[in-house]
Amino acid sequence: MTEPVIELSGVNRHFIDGPAALRDVSLTVHAGEAVAILGPSGSGKSTMLNMIAGLDRPDSGTVTVAGVRVDKLNEAGAARYRRNKIGMIFQFFNLLDDLTVLDNVVLPAEMTGMARGEARKHATGLLETLGIAKHVRAYPGRLSGGERQRVAVARALMNHPALLLADEPTGALDSASGEEVKALLRELHADGQTIVMVTHDLTLAQTCATRTVRIVDGQIASDTRTHPPAADTRVEVAR
Ligand SMILES: Nc1ncnc2c1ncn2[C@@H]1O[C@H](COP(=O)(O)OP(=O)(O)OP(=O)(O)O)[C@@H](O)[C@H]1O
Ligand SMILES: [Mg+2]
Repeated sequence: MTEPVIELSGVNRHFIDGPAALRDVSLTVHAGEAVAILGPSGSGKSTMLNMIAGLDRPDSGTVTVAGVRVDKLNEAGAARYRRNKIGMIFQFFNLLDDLTVLDNVVLPAEMTGMARGEARKHATGLLETLGIAKHVRAYPGRLSGGERQRVAVARALMNHPALLLADEPTGALDSASGEEVKALLRELHADGQTIVMVTHDLTLAQTCATRTVRIVDGQIASDTRTHPPAADTRVEVAR
């Protein structure tokens, strides 16, 4: 068995108000898995994703991702870790509206010190693969939601992340755009990308994930493998 990409062990997180957000959570994810995290609002899904992303730290327990003890990183270390090891996509895309599509995608590579020419070449290739090459010089505000999310995916993939994290990647999309993003996630998974997605979208979980983890009240209530993805309906992403 390969080294796990994610290993959460006995993770607890208690915010000052209210009940514990995560209670003794242990979870191991191996390379190539596509995991959907489901659960009611307030159950701790985003808190768990933030732990994995190094955006928050557990009160106790350990978080290891791609060989890095994420719970031990300081702020600079966590930023470097996010840059080098993970790609993130969000419900509302989080693109920089005053940068062009190309510059948004190039940014993470520039922050690692990659030469601008090389970064632009790599970004252009990704945008071509994701079917949005014609928009390279556009500003994100001009694009549809589905197109914006594809730009966000290109940006997330720019530094060849060991892990792609998604928090409600279809949450702000109409159903057609949502389908495009799902098709894209299926393709990335088929290419071997390890993916963890938090979602309320059951079809996203059913069609894009090989494993579904359900969180209730800060604890893992079930963990089901559904390999291969239930619906093997790979839709060709529009080029
Ligand atoms: N920064 C914070 N400060 C205080 N409490 C927090 C903070 N972040 C989360 N919580 C609390 O922790 C619990 C879990 O929140 P979390 O955001 O992880 O839920 P979620 O499962 O992602 O919910 P949703 O589906 O609504 O996004 C909730 O009770 C929430 O109010
Ligand atoms: Mg959330």
